[in-house]
Amino acid sequence: MKQRWSGWTLAAGALTISATAFAAPPTPEMISFACAGCHGTNGGSAGLTMPSLAGQSKTAIVEAMKKFKSGERPSTVMGRLAKGYTDADFEKMGEFFSKQKVHFTNQTVDKAKAARGAELQEAHCSRCHLDDGKDGKDDTPVMASQWLPYLQMQMELYQSGARKMPEKMAEKVKPLSKEDLEALLHFYAGVNK
Ligand code: HEC
Ligand code: HEC
Repeated sequence: MKQRWSGWTLAAGALTISATAFAAPPTPEMISFACAGCHGTNGGSAGLTMPSLAGQSKTAIVEAMKKFKSGERPSTVMGRLAKGYTDADFEKMGEFFSKQKVHFTNQTVDKAKAARGAELQEAHCSRCHLDDGKDGKDDTPVMASQWLPYLQMQMELYQSGARKMPEKMAEKVKPLSKEDLEALLHFYAGVNK
C-alpha cells in the first residue's frame, strides 16, 4: 500500500469490505486475487515454471482447472489449489483472465531453433495453436511468450504420458523428433509481439 492509512480509516475500510463480501458472492476480480502471486494481477507469469494466463480462453482455463482438481493433469501446486474451488469459481477465474491482453515476456531464445520451429508450427500445430500461438481457440491454451522452462516441463509430461495429449494433437506431435519439438518450444517462447 502506498499511502499510510490511519487506524480509523483502515477499520472502516475493513468493515465495508466484509459487509460487501457478506452481501454478494465474490466477483471475478476478487476470486482471481488468489492467483496473482504466481500468475500476476495482469495474468503475466511471475516465474519460469508458471504459465501466463492473460488472454487464455475461458474454456481453456475452466478445463485446466477441472483437470487439476480431478488429478487428470499432473501438477506441482495447482491440484491442491484447485480442490478449494467450485466449477462456478473456475468460470469466474476464466472470465477474469480471458479479458486480459496476452502477456509478452521478451525472453532470449535460440534464434536458429526458433526459425526452424516457425516452419514446424505452420505445418503441424497452427490448426489449433492459432496466430503464432497467441490465440487460444476453445480449449487450446495460449502458447506465445510462455516461459521456455514451463513449456519444456509440460512437453516432458506429455512425452512421459503423465499429462494426456488431446488425440488430434498427439497425431501431430508423435512423428516429430525431440529436436523438432525443442525447436517448436523455442519458437513459441520467443513470440513477443
Ligand atoms: C503458488 C503459485 C500458484 C498459484 C497461487 C496459482 N497458480 Fe496456477 N499454476 C501454477 C503452476 C506452477 C502451474 C503449472 C502446473 C503446476 O505445476 O502446478 C500453474 C498452471 C495453471 C494453469 C494452466 C495454464 C496452462 O497454460 O496450461 C491454469 C489455468 C492456472 N494455473 C490457473 C490458476 C488460477 C485460476 C489460480 C487462482 C485460483 C492459480 N492458478 C493460482 C502456480 C500457481
Ligand atoms: C487438434 C488441436 C491441436 C493441435 C494440432 C496441437 N495442439 Fe497443442 N494443445 C491443444 C490443446 C487442446 C491443449 C490443451 C490440452 C490439455 O489440457 O492438455 C494443447 C496444449 C499444448 C501444450 C501445453 C501448453 C500449456 O500451456 O500447458 C503444448 C506444449 C502443446 N500443446 C504443443 C503443441 C505442438 C508442439 C503442436 C504441433 C506439433 C501441437 N501442440 C498441436 C491442441 C492442439
